Amino acid sequence: MSDLRPIGIFDSGFGGLTAVKEVIRSLPDEQIVYFGDTARVPYGPKSRETVVRFSIENILFLLKCKVKLIIIACNTASSVALSIVEESFKVPIIGVIAPGVLEAVNVTKNKKIGVIGTRTAINSGTYEKMIKQKRSGAKVYSTECPLFVPLVEEGWLNTQITKQIARQYLLPLKLKKIDTLVLGCTHYPLLKPVIREVMGKEVTLVDSARQVARQAKEILVKGNLLASGGNKNKNNLRFYVSDEPDNFAALGKRFLGFKLENVRKVSNV
Ligand code: DGL
Repeated sequence: MSDLRPIGIFDSGFGGLTAVKEVIRSLPDEQIVYFGDTARVPYGPKSRETVVRFSIENILFLLKCKVKLIIIACNTASSVALSIVEESFKVPIIGVIAPGVLEAVNVTKNKKIGVIGTRTAINSGTYEKMIKQKRSGAKVYSTECPLFVPLVEEGWLNTQITKQIARQYLLPLKLKKIDTLVLGCTHYPLLKPVIREVMGKEVTLVDSARQVARQAKEILVKGNLLASGGNKNKNNLRFYVSDEPDNFAALGKRFLGFKLENVRKVSNV
């Protein structure tokens, strides 16, 4: 049986599109409804209570779109809201932290793992706790990188200033001799070239987007929820934002590599 209901994905803004890209790659038959909370971005510097409230509102919006699975494609929201919302709704809800943790603990050899993310994601301690649960003896070094999100949103992906800021944030992690660095924010994969330049080739960069797509696929297979056949064009993507749809469409192209059709503004969240 084929389940044609869409997969719902949300983020505070554009960052979650890195997850959308991987979901399209591994589940090309699925319809996707994306919600970017552009009126309230960034989530990174906001309190836990606020991010939990926003996350619940975003989920309620996606449920109105009759989604069959929800991906919280935002590390900040996943770190503080997932444990609360996953028990409260019938539809399966997954976040981006566990998939990144799983990959990090699998690839590390020296058990020294760095994590970079927004202030709220890092302060939540969620990454550190989960890494230590999955790999005993692991040493976790976490750093908040609050300037990375605005740099990505400005499109300053490879400028001298971006490199300088990256060095300032990342060199202390390099000195700790980590062999794995978790990009704990869905915006950061766009800064991979700069991050790699600072960290060197010997440090593995973990980007949870691919892993979260894999987990989504597993859930759909197990629950007999896959859409099979028929949905093979970009009209299967619907984008909603809470503000500035044109800006979202322009920047979204940078994340996805193709023009975004049908970006609509909704004011009911
Ligand atoms: N994409 C969000 C995350 O993964 C960061 C952007 C924000 O601060 O809202 O944490």
